[in-house]
Amino acid sequence: MLQLRDTAVLVTGAGRGLGWGIARAFGIAGAKVCVTDLDEEELARCARDLAADGTTHHTRRSDVADLTECATVVKTIVNRWGRLDVVVHCAIYMPLIGFEALTPEEWWRQITVGLGGLFNCAHAAWPQMKSQGGGHVIGIASGSSLRGYKDEVAYCTVKHGVEGFVKAMSLEARAHNIALNTIGPGAPIKPTRMTWAEYDQAPTNLRARWADPVELGQAWVWLAAQPPGRFSGYRFDAAPLVQTIAREGPAFSFAPEKVTLYPDDFRARQEWYSGYAD
Ligand SMILES: NC(=O)c1ccc[n+]([C@@H]2O[C@H](COP(=O)([O-])OP(=O)(O)OC[C@H]3O[C@@H](n4cnc5c(N)ncnc54)[C@H](O)[C@@H]3O)[C@@H](O)[C@H]2O)c1
Repeated sequence: MLQLRDTAVLVTGAGRGLGWGIARAFGIAGAKVCVTDLDEEELARCARDLAADGTTHHTRRSDVADLTECATVVKTIVNRWGRLDVVVHCAIYMPLIGFEALTPEEWWRQITVGLGGLFNCAHAAWPQMKSQGGGHVIGIASGSSLRGYKDEVAYCTVKHGVEGFVKAMSLEARAHNIALNTIGPGAPIKPTRMTWAEYDQAPTNLRARWADPVELGQAWVWLAAQPPGRFSGYRFDAAPLVQTIAREGPAFSFAPEKVTLYPDDFRARQEWYSGYAD
């Protein structure tokens, strides 16, 4: 099991769902974890679970779409723990709406949470990561990062945009030893928007089809344990990565097939970055 001592991590939108699993996985690995969310009830449940794991943690109601609030969160983390090593932007606002019913307000809210939130996190964490000599910023990938789906115009735009952001930013962040990547779940997980209360009511046979977010969370822990100079600007997928770690250990001999559902895309990015003149 990977250990991350003296590591401070921020996970946005982590009151429930994938973010909750990632936050717990980091805590189990020994990291100090700050969790933000808009929903106080989900945050309280996450705080209870982190406490039960024995994780040093801080939970905070904060809107990731608001840059000032993100800056306050980063300041709080640095005041408490002296550093910020990893930011995982998980928060998402994703109502399913067809284009004709999509108001400009709905469109911009989805964009400012899903994509703007990543900018806000990177912007707020950047000076601290630069001054401490590096860090990791990790976005969340999806099938919607590559394909289109009906009623997901804003969501697909967000998820495609997140890939563009890490591709471009990785080139500018190299000089500061800051890595930007994305990781998708790589296996079915509970649907977005489903609350803890709804999850608790879901039939057992349905829940059994969803991967455990805490197990998947080991993929984020693994990536955060890599030197930032090793991988930046890539898309990983948690399920194959976690299976590889289980089979071969965390120091496995690397091949794109072992860490993503899209190895050709991974290789195309490797080729682009290696030929890119600084
Ligand atoms: N569930 C899936 O099938 C799936 C598949 C691929 C990728 N993803 C991605 O995983 C990530 C987590 O999704 P999930 O399925 O766990 O969703 P979820 O709905 O369970 O959790 C999202 C959390 O974000 C919080 N949130 C919403 N707006 C916020 C804001 N402005 N500021 C702070 N927090 C806010 C919500 O309150 C909620 O707790 C997302 O980036 C999503 O795109 C999910």
